[in-house]
Amino acid sequence: MDDMVGAWATAVAEAELSSPLPRRWAHTQGVAERAKEVGQVLGVNAGLLIAAAALHDVGYAPRLAATGFHPLDGARFLRDEHGAEERLVRLVANHSFALLEAEERGLREALAAEFPLLEEPLLVDALVYCDMTTTPDGDRTTAQARVAEIRSRYGDDSLVGRFIRRAAPEIFASVKRVEAALAAQPR
Ligand SMILES: [Fe+2]
Repeated sequence: MDDMVGAWATAVAEAELSSPLPRRWAHTQGVAERAKEVGQVLGVNAGLLIAAAALHDVGYAPRLAATGFHPLDGARFLRDEHGAEERLVRLVANHSFALLEAEERGLREALAAEFPLLEEPLLVDALVYCDMTTTPDGDRTTAQARVAEIRSRYGDDSLVGRFIRRAAPEIFASVKRVEAALAAQPR
């Protein structure tokens, strides 16, 4: 079952991203690879993490970019066009501290009301970990380097720049918690 959800998610993401946004698709594939490695700490939720990793940035697809805020556009697409399961949709809507970016955009209340943050902290942290330890090209990196890259790409005075500076301590804390969970895992 888990494999089926992952395969479906990958196919949906590939269909939406690979041709219009090949670099975003490369990033997505890297994030999904990280999810396969981290899934061991999540037990029955491993497949859900892989699916969320594959679909987290689907809202960047030009045809889906209705509000221009990709977590919200992606979550609405998955809910409305695919009837995707609620936990998956809520993970995508809230990935990597989307609530903080939503606040910068005046969308925090709308996002929180439509897609409440999942009350499964390790799952939420794991998706942050996968996204934030993967470069825009899909390679492995550190969260510190990733945040620095986002700051330099968008500029500190931009909306995303303001968001990432506020989110950075939260991102680093999430990554630490997942690393601790991985280290505690029996081999
Ligand atoms: Fe994203």
